[in-house]
Parts: sequence; structure tokens; C-alpha cells
Amino acid sequence: MAEAIIAEHVTKDFVLRRHKTFKQMSVAKMRGQKTVDRFNAVDDVSFTIQQGESVGLMGLNGSGKSTLLKVVSGVMKPNKGTMVTRGRIAGLIATGAGFQSQLSGLENIYLNAAIYGLNEKETKKVLEEIIDFADIGQFIDQPVGTYSSGMTSRLGFSIAVHVDCDIFLADEILAVGDKPFKRKCMNKMDEIRASGKTMVYVSHAAASVQRMCDRVICLERGRVIFDGDVDEGIRVLHYDDDEDGDELALSDAEMGADV
Ligand SMILES: Nc1ncnc2c1ncn2[C@@H]1O[C@H](COP(=O)(O)OP(=O)(O)OP(=O)(O)O)[C@@H](O)[C@H]1O
Ligand SMILES: [Mg+2]
Repeated sequence: MAEAIIAEHVTKDFVLRRHKTFKQMSVAKMRGQKTVDRFNAVDDVSFTIQQGESVGLMGLNGSGKSTLLKVVSGVMKPNKGTMVTRGRIAGLIATGAGFQSQLSGLENIYLNAAIYGLNEKETKKVLEEIIDFADIGQFIDQPVGTYSSGMTSRLGFSIAVHVDCDIFLADEILAVGDKPFKRKCMNKMDEIRASGKTMVYVSHAAASVQRMCDRVICLERGRVIFDGDVDEGIRVLHYDDDEDGDELALSDAEMGADV
């Protein structure tokens, strides 16, 4: 089996400014103090994902999942290390990413298809399917900027799943869709998996990761703390504590993150 994604010592850091105003910054500089901090959102991450594998990427808020996915997609370059991917990448790395808010849904389909490298003929072939799957009715001709977050996510997901890709990336795509749409998305993702595509799926919904993934990578403060069996990874993150009976113990479905 061939490798689809190889991450080697990937590190992505961001600059945190210590001062709010130019004056504060100048004073600090004159005093010889530091004016910025750097912190590693992704810290020395290495893994290999084989073609056809479906990997869940989990971790608490701010642990670096979205940043890592952006590095996989090529939207961000790592400061250190290398990320090598094989084949065309599609998916949703942020709701509304790649949309022009003044353009209509339909125009955005053409725009996004072009970004994915589809020519006009290829786009026309899947256009009806994209519109049908998104199922947002007459709003397809309205500017995307006027869409609800669920509608934006529907259109984005619909475009992404109709692009013929080798690697499918999904960052919390089910978080804002309504229940019927979530069910439709899960079925579509099952199809994508079954067709042998590689998938990286970010979610806080343990049940959906269990259903969809054969392996999980857990991040904590940018570092990989676990890479392996899904159930074990969920235990490592204490995402299996939901049965404890406290009032925070909402099921995935109640949290709106699963079907
Ligand atoms: N463009 C940026 N500039 C500065 N800091 C950033 C930037 N993007 C992300 N960060 C920081 O990097 C850290 C990791 O963010 P990231 O979005 O990857 O987390 P996450 O694991 O996806 O969290 P969540 O579960 O909330 O989606 C956070 O502390 C965030 O503030
Ligand atoms: Mg995120």
C-alpha cells in the first residue's frame, strides 16, 4: 500500500503580540524587552497515513487540529518539517472557506470547482448533483454572504464531496448541519471511504469518529499524544466519560455533532 500523507517533524508556530499599542511596543523595545512570543500550534508532529486509511484527528479546543489540517491541505506552510501528500485534496477545512460572499451559490460552485482544478465540462457534469445535495432551494441564486451558517456548510460540503479527490479532509463539518443533512453527510462520507479514498476527519463527536475511522491521532497542545486504535484514543482524551451522569454528559446527538 502506498503512503498518502507523510508528516515529518511538522511544526507551525504563530506570533503572539505582547502589546496592544504602538506606544507600548516602542517602550518595551527601548527597554530591551521582548515584544512578541512565538508559540507552537503544531509541535514536531510526525505520522504516515496510508492510501485508503480513514484517520480521526482529535483533541481539545486549541490543540492544533485545524492548523495541522491546513498544513496537510497546503493552505499553510510548516515553519519546520515537511508535509508530503499524494494526489488531489478536497474537503472542508473551514466553513465558508473559499467562498466569495458577494457571489451567488451557483457562481461559487464554479469558482470552487475551478480552484479544485475542474474544467467547465467537468463542473457541468456534477453541477446538478451539487445543487441537489446542498438542497438549499432558490437560495442557490442568492449571495453566499446572506446564507445561514448551516446553508454555507451545506454548499461547501456538497462541492467538496463531488470533487473527485484522493484525499478528503473534513474539519467539524457536521457541527452546524441539521439532523437530516448530517445523516446525508455521514452516508456520503461512508461512500467516500468505501471508494478507497484517504480521509482525515476532525471531530469532537466520539461516536462519529468511531463510526468513520480506523485510527485516531490525538493532539494535546500541538503534540501527538496518541496514534492508534480509535477506542483507546477516545479513552486517552476522556471523551468516553459521557456515561458519568453529570449534567455535562450530553450525547453526541444532543450536542449536535453526530447523527
Ligand atoms: N492564524 C493564526 N494566528 C495566530 N494563532 C493562531 C492562528 N491559527 C490558529 N492559532 C492558534 O493556534 C492554536 C491551535 O488552533 P487550532 O485552530 O489549530 O485548534 P483546534 O484544535 O482546531 O481547536 P478547535 O477544537 O477549537 O477547533 C490556538 O491556540 C489558536 O489560537
Ligand atoms: Mg479547529
